[in-house]
Amino acid sequence: MTVNAFVQLVNVSKRFEGDKKLVLDNLNLTINQGEFLTMLGPSGCGKTTTLRIIAGFERPTNGDVIIQDENVTLKDPNERCVNTVFQNYALFPHMNIYDNIAFGLRMKKVKSEEIDEKVKKMLKMVKMEEYINRMPSELSGGQKQRIAIARAVINNPKVLLLDEPLGALDLKLRKQMQFELKHLQKELGITFIFVTHDQEEALTMSDRIIVMNEGVVEQIGTPYEIYEKPSTKFVADFIGEANILEAIVKELKDDQAVLSINTGEDVLIENKNYEVNEKLFLAIRPEKLSLSNSENKLMSLKVAYKEKVYTGVTQRTIVTLESGQEIQVLESTEDNFDFDNETNVYVTWKQDNLVVMKS
Ligand SMILES: Nc1ncnc2c1ncn2[C@@H]1O[C@H](COP(=O)(O)OP(=O)(O)O)[C@@H](O)[C@H]1O
Ligand SMILES: [Mg+2]
Repeated sequence: MTVNAFVQLVNVSKRFEGDKKLVLDNLNLTINQGEFLTMLGPSGCGKTTTLRIIAGFERPTNGDVIIQDENVTLKDPNERCVNTVFQNYALFPHMNIYDNIAFGLRMKKVKSEEIDEKVKKMLKMVKMEEYINRMPSELSGGQKQRIAIARAVINNPKVLLLDEPLGALDLKLRKQMQFELKHLQKELGITFIFVTHDQEEALTMSDRIIVMNEGVVEQIGTPYEIYEKPSTKFVADFIGEANILEAIVKELKDDQAVLSINTGEDVLIENKNYEVNEKLFLAIRPEKLSLSNSENKLMSLKVAYKEKVYTGVTQRTIVTLESGQEIQVLESTEDNFDFDNETNVYVTWKQDNLVVMKS
């Protein structure tokens, strides 16, 4: 993957006419060439608006859109080397599959032999050769999705924008299409800007993820960074599962800091320039916790048993801290902790697995 800026949003804000609120608040993004970049965030956080600004269907209220070093902020969609695949596919219902895919090239007055060759190549790419004469209404959701992708890719865009393209598919097909899309992207070498509100989809498919919340970027990073090192409470909570504790810095000792959590117990973390009395959040994933009879000083908390849920691969145990706060623990079904007749039970962790966030 060559790494250079391909699409840039510089200080982009958006306010729709008549509204007071900014839908996008000073967005700064750099998307690299050949990258599979995913915008992830809850419904209404501004993902579609960002895509529409990149595509040129919407003008930003402030800021600039740069594509390949050219400022395209005021340019129309057809003047940008960008194509969009919409969630509802937007196939032309009165045209068969061949004509749907050929449409863009016909508009550009490409010779019919060349169109024919390219349409067939696209159909082969999305494994839909037998469907060439069907109408869109005769296809399943997943098949329509493939045609929508073929129709966008035939125009040879440098950037493909995909707005929740798998949202309408059932889970199994969705998983299959995730892998196919990812392979297709690598094969074609096109930059993909993919939008989803599904965190698992984002983790599986992306080179990098942008986590958005209410019109601002919460974090940009690789799937690993986003999952293992969430930088805000929102990210820790939105991506995967996290137990979140509130804490206050009690004491600093060189490279360590002692925090006091709301049960009154103390927890040791690595000191990264914290200040005494500073308020912090601690996040820890359920699979990074274990249950044990033995206390691990400053790296464990006393818990009481609440509930167990067997999920096949894992055993989920819900315990409570002395404050009453619930903590989720995920262990393998084989070596999960047995609570029978145990009175002193602790959740324990490795210091590396504790994520500390400023509040
Ligand atoms: N054309 C529009 N006019 C007014 N408000 C809009 C328009 N389009 C989107 N919005 C608002 O902007 C916010 C972000 O919407 P959107 O970008 O569609 O979010 P997402 O795709 O993340 O679900 C929402 O509050 C939505 O109601
Ligand atoms: Mg949307």
